[in-house]
Amino acid sequence: MNFPNYRPRRLRGSETLRRMVTETTLSVDNLILPLFVTYEKNTKKPIGSMPGHFQLSVDNLAEEAREIASLGIPGVILFGIPETKDEVGTSAFDEDGPVQSAIKAIKDAAPELCVITDVCMCEYTSHGHCGIIKDGDVLNDATLELLSQEALSHVEAGADMVAPSDMMDGRIGAIRSTLDREGFTNIPIMSYAAKYASAYYGPFREAAESTPEFGDRRSYQMDPANSDEAIREARLDIAEGADMIMVKPALPYLDIIRRLKDEFDYPIAAYNVSGEYSMIKAAEEKGWIDGERTMMETLLSIKRAGANTIITYFAKDAAKVLNK
Ligand code: PBG
Ligand code: ZN
Repeated sequence: MNFPNYRPRRLRGSETLRRMVTETTLSVDNLILPLFVTYEKNTKKPIGSMPGHFQLSVDNLAEEAREIASLGIPGVILFGIPETKDEVGTSAFDEDGPVQSAIKAIKDAAPELCVITDVCMCEYTSHGHCGIIKDGDVLNDATLELLSQEALSHVEAGADMVAPSDMMDGRIGAIRSTLDREGFTNIPIMSYAAKYASAYYGPFREAAESTPEFGDRRSYQMDPANSDEAIREARLDIAEGADMIMVKPALPYLDIIRRLKDEFDYPIAAYNVSGEYSMIKAAEEKGWIDGERTMMETLLSIKRAGANTIITYFAKDAAKVLNK
């Protein structure tokens, strides 16, 4: 199978041939769209670093949800911007909080949409960390109780799936047993299993108003240098009851997506995060790249690496291309 007997270009000669031998296909079924929901009323506030994205008030969600569903996007993941924050993030489990209200509004408007919620404390704590602080660090076991209450309040409001992103040890087990005890044995958990301490979250923190007031998240999120550790994290989460495991960010961690895909027979999600989105949008605005082609190539590469599901701010744009 050597040149000149074998010529790889033979199968690249036409659109039809290329289509026949394609190994990876991206479908709208693979996409999940993140939404930022604010407690404010009648608001659609643009997020400067994420063109095309907004902090939306609950009253704007019915229309948004119907558009998302009509594009064929199967799911959304919700982040909340609450009215009040305190040391322990009490507003995270307010039954009238932005996420809890958003779940109901979306399920009313588009019942077929899978409503996933991000479960974490950083949007609700005054210090912006993902759990309770003691002596300058996040307390692990005490935070599990809060995360469990938060997850339960989302599910009680009608969430179809919860996605804990805090990176506390033992959180999947704690949330699973709380949901089971309360009768929600059929609600799946998508665990942010390998979530790295990444600079790519910058624009998100503007969007969700969740920048830590001091320090950083390196005592709980993973070191970007580590790969074996991602396997251990995923193994633990699966043992504790995770139904899907996530790698985040996506593009700088395609190797991790592939390792988890090869290692575990579980659905893999990848989070194509805010910074990955903003970089492409910025370069497109400058006229330096073809934004649409770069978007599609990026999403395809995440799929090719092994992701079944891609959480992406490009979901609507990509759906429009895929539906053409
Ligand atoms: C909350 C959370 C973050 C993201 C998702 N959930 C921010 C963080 O950990 O600082 C980032 C998403 C993105 O950048 O798009 N823990
Ligand atoms: Zn957090």
